Amino acid sequence: MHLLTLALAILYKIPFMYHLLDHPLITHKITQLRRKETRTRDFRENLDEIAGLMAYEITRDIPLQDVNIETPLASTTAKELARDIVLVPILRAGLGMVNSITHLIPTAKIGHVGMYRDHETLEPKAYYSKFPANMSDTEVMVLDPMLATGGSASAAIQECKNHGAGTIKLVCVVGAPEGLEKIEQDHPDINIYLAALDEKLNSKGYIVPGLGDAGDRIFGTR
Ligand code: PRP
Ligand code: URA
Repeated sequence: MHLLTLALAILYKIPFMYHLLDHPLITHKITQLRRKETRTRDFRENLDEIAGLMAYEITRDIPLQDVNIETPLASTTAKELARDIVLVPILRAGLGMVNSITHLIPTAKIGHVGMYRDHETLEPKAYYSKFPANMSDTEVMVLDPMLATGGSASAAIQECKNHGAGTIKLVCVVGAPEGLEKIEQDHPDINIYLAALDEKLNSKGYIVPGLGDAGDRIFGTR
């Protein structure tokens, strides 16, 4: 754990259920996201690549099961994923993380949670949700590039739990200490994966230094 991360963890009583995936390739790509001159196309590409690199690491503990197969030479007992994986992007910005993960895990099912922050109160407003039928024996990955106050992620995790999800992981690219604290309080059972832990939120609830409004930068709005 980096010294700055450790200091922030102690200062903000940050949970240790969180994992910082600070691989050099990921860190380099986050720098491209942070640059204000990075345009929509490059922003999308870098974000999607980061999500794929994170997913590779996050899925390390997914259970496998034995399966009997025939190779061209012999019968053998091999292994395959034992559980369905469900991706749950938080609309809109979480959509920017889906593509590369579904390339890695083509059998993944995808649920959606629509959530936007009220600009005044910073409270999440839910406007849509749709989940696969049976979530109980699945590995759920809730996706959102930004964990700011943590309100949106916490509400999305609750939606997943309401639909019977068992194992849930929260996967965000850039987070603030305030968001980590909120998830730890509301959902102490959840593992949180970040690629960068930033310093703080500003008075408007934006992560500093952060990368701005992720949804707008992915979709070229505003
Ligand atoms: C952004 C982001 C998260 C949320 C994070 O979405 O993608 O969902 O804010 O903030 P929080 O941790 O304080 O809840 P936004 O509300 O801007 O919606 P959008 O993705 O549709 O632009
Ligand atoms: N949502 C974003 O898109 N960016 C932030 O910095 C905070 C919330």
